[in-house]
Amino acid sequence: MAEPIYRRVVVKVSGEALMGPDGFGINQPTLERIAADLVATQNLGVSLGIVVGGGNIFRGVQVSEKGIPRLTGDLMGMLATVMNALALETAIEAAGGSARTMSAVTMPEICETYERRRALRHLGKNRMVLLAGGTGNPFFTTDTTAVLRAAEVGAGAVLKATDVDGIYSADPKKDQKAVRYERLTHQEAIERNLKVMDATAFALARENRMPIIVFSIRESRAVETVLRGRGRATVVNS
Ligand code: GTP
Repeated sequence: MAEPIYRRVVVKVSGEALMGPDGFGINQPTLERIAADLVATQNLGVSLGIVVGGGNIFRGVQVSEKGIPRLTGDLMGMLATVMNALALETAIEAAGGSARTMSAVTMPEICETYERRRALRHLGKNRMVLLAGGTGNPFFTTDTTAVLRAAEVGAGAVLKATDVDGIYSADPKKDQKAVRYERLTHQEAIERNLKVMDATAFALARENRMPIIVFSIRESRAVETVLRGRGRATVVNS
């Protein structure tokens, strides 16, 4: 069996990934499949930070078109990420793993507050850390959160789970001529305006020389497979 290519990573799981075949909310079998993958990865000796999105419950950008200001929408989206993190934490523990939710927005009755040193302590004790509440600020995405936290906790890479097997030149669901990239630089990803992550996230990754690995979470054991250096993925690096 191949050794994991990184000993510490931050995995970004979108809210939509938890929706599975449903149009909204959390699909329990999908949640359990993702949790089992994360626990198998943890059992390889990989220390895991997990950033969860909130788009399955609430999309800030969409409601801003309907009259709720973007700022308020983003705050509501941050709360949605906490709900997802708590659900994933529960599923990880049910699958035999160990996990703690830490929110960037203080809500002590609900979960711990994100503090870098405390997150490092959890990671050192082989607990996954679920990084909820985004960066704690509106106008920043959970992709940016994933890169920021990865840099903070000394992760070797960000693993960005999507519903396609890498980065394409155009949306492969809409454009049959879309070409899949094996490797890209951060600069190329920014210049080509590739939509897989926002420019703030790519720029922060470029500045910190943080590799981003984009892969599909639809496959079972997808995270474990990527960390064993197998499976289809696009690697963005300097
Ligand atoms: P160490 O092994 O020393 O890191 O301790 P610990 O994290 O097990 O102990 P601690 O007393 O910090 O936490 C015990 C439990 O309380 C854990 O389930 C924590 O997640 C939880 N906990 C700690 N701080 C908070 C908080 O601010 N809010 C909430 N809701 N739970 C918390």
